Amino acid sequence: MYRDNTCGELRLADAGKEVRLAGWVQRIRKMGGMTFVDVRDRYGITQVVFGQDIDAVLADKANRLGREFVVQVTGTVRERSSKNPSLPTGDIEVIAGGLEVLNRSDVPPFTIEDNTDGGDDLRMKYRYLDLRRPAVRKNLELRHRMAFEIRRYLDANGFLEVETPILVKSTPEGARDFVVPSRMNPGEFYALPQSPQLFKQLLMVSGFDRYFQIAKCFRDEDLRADRQPEFTQIDCEMSFVEQEDVIRMFEGLVKHIFKYVKGMDFPDAFPRITWQEAMTRYGSDKPDIRFGMEFVDFTDLAKGNGFAVADDAEIVVGICAPGCAEYTRKQIDELTEFVKRPQIGAKGLMWVKFGPDGEVKSSIGKFYTPEQLADWGRRADAKAGDLLLVMAGDNAMKTRKQLCELRLEMGERLGFRDREVFAPLWVVDFPLFEWDDETQRYYAMHHPFTAPNPEDIPLLKSDTGRVRATAYDIVVNGTELGGGSIRIHDSELQDQMFELLGFTPERAQEQFGFLMNAFRYGAPPHGGLALGFDRFVSMLAGLDTIRDTIAFPKNNSGRDVMNESPSPIESAQLEELRLELRPADDKGK
Ligand code: AMO
Repeated sequence: MYRDNTCGELRLADAGKEVRLAGWVQRIRKMGGMTFVDVRDRYGITQVVFGQDIDAVLADKANRLGREFVVQVTGTVRERSSKNPSLPTGDIEVIAGGLEVLNRSDVPPFTIEDNTDGGDDLRMKYRYLDLRRPAVRKNLELRHRMAFEIRRYLDANGFLEVETPILVKSTPEGARDFVVPSRMNPGEFYALPQSPQLFKQLLMVSGFDRYFQIAKCFRDEDLRADRQPEFTQIDCEMSFVEQEDVIRMFEGLVKHIFKYVKGMDFPDAFPRITWQEAMTRYGSDKPDIRFGMEFVDFTDLAKGNGFAVADDAEIVVGICAPGCAEYTRKQIDELTEFVKRPQIGAKGLMWVKFGPDGEVKSSIGKFYTPEQLADWGRRADAKAGDLLLVMAGDNAMKTRKQLCELRLEMGERLGFRDREVFAPLWVVDFPLFEWDDETQRYYAMHHPFTAPNPEDIPLLKSDTGRVRATAYDIVVNGTELGGGSIRIHDSELQDQMFELLGFTPERAQEQFGFLMNAFRYGAPPHGGLALGFDRFVSMLAGLDTIRDTIAFPKNNSGRDVMNESPSPIESAQLEELRLELRPADDKGK
């Protein structure tokens, strides 16, 4: 036995006990003839004391230890004279009676502490050392705890965990696939699954009724703080259900996790909002409802006063920032610069200040009288001391999305986006289709298997863009945590969907033939949802990025800088796969 106790468990009640610990050397401090060594393992840190007057040979040995050496220590637990209240073991120390160096360590490239001196790149290169830091380790512990509670809830509700393949068929919809060449089938490729969508629907045809999987998914898309090329979904599907049943089941799951992992109760049903309403009130299909500052439409008030910006606009819309009338010129210039950034792309920002004594000041005071602007204020329910921030644009949807960014920025500045407050919300009634100007065709907003709202089926051909889907997203604090839909289970309706999405019958058969064939053998009505597991963990951990919820993540260029992947492969491997590479600068001409 290397150890009898962990480095995190000894307390005052253990004083006098003989113990054996094993772990890594976190820190060595020498004071007079004493050497204090902090020994760390997954469970905590224990202070071990060596002294020239206790055992000089042992003390000399301790003085030769280095950071991150692996040691085994035996000794006696004793009450500390100067206690450390910030450590759970801070009331005691171990007086060493024996020290074994189990392994040496090079000097680590950064300090293994929560406030490390290592930058991002260095920590990722040495991720196995980064994972020794409690802050990172805690996230993985939380992830484990959540996975455990997810399984407990779903098992109790009759769900079966079924694994689906990782080598699948490449399909053209959605994000780009990662592809894998097949040696045994030269010239042919598998894809890594973007989600287990088709398999879980097939499992419903097979009668599995309630399926789930904590599933690895792969998408070759541009990366952001909440996106990794390889991520995990809590993927679920149910038979004989309607939207309401799915929403109720997974609202229950989210509440269960908050309760058993975070100790937070959500007694009420989560609010719901339609997609249309979300876009109108917040300019986003994933609104952060921890705070108000809802959009106010000023179009009718703004037009017809000889102000070209408003007269030429499709929409004039704004938010009321409470207590911000005192913003300086510089602060407002900063906000203007913010909305003009290429990522947001607004042309400018108008403002109206309502001073403490009711006086109105505005960037558009030349075009509107103070009385007119007071009307704007009344519409926005502005109080003395508030600031209206207003945008105009020739495309209402685009302008709303731009204002959404400003609303979130203001929410941040005003401290309304508290990480310890969670505001879940269902967004329902998404449009079924999305028009793409570039390719001049409709795309499925969710995926091609999503059922239209039965009321809108007559509009499929005549007013395609207005058809609502039976699709729902769960949004928490402005992040899309998950989404799903009721699926089409009727092969004729599915054929019609493919046609509207521009598939020829042959191509639909080639891509999705297996699913359509399966649907000819008694597909039950079914629907489901997938939650982004990494996002869920990072939300509960209060992290800015999902990277630190993943043991070995990729960086923003999709690289694992620790093992330097992706990497070239041997020419023999290429040969075997019958693949030939073009030079990197060959654009395929
Ligand atoms: P969707 O594509 O909306 O739906 O994905 C479901 C959830 O997965 C998470 N997610 C991601 N997380 C990290 N990195 C990524 N690159 C990434 N992409 C998506 C999000 C998202 O809400 N098969 C359907 C679900 C269904 O209809 O049942 C699907 O995959 O949190």
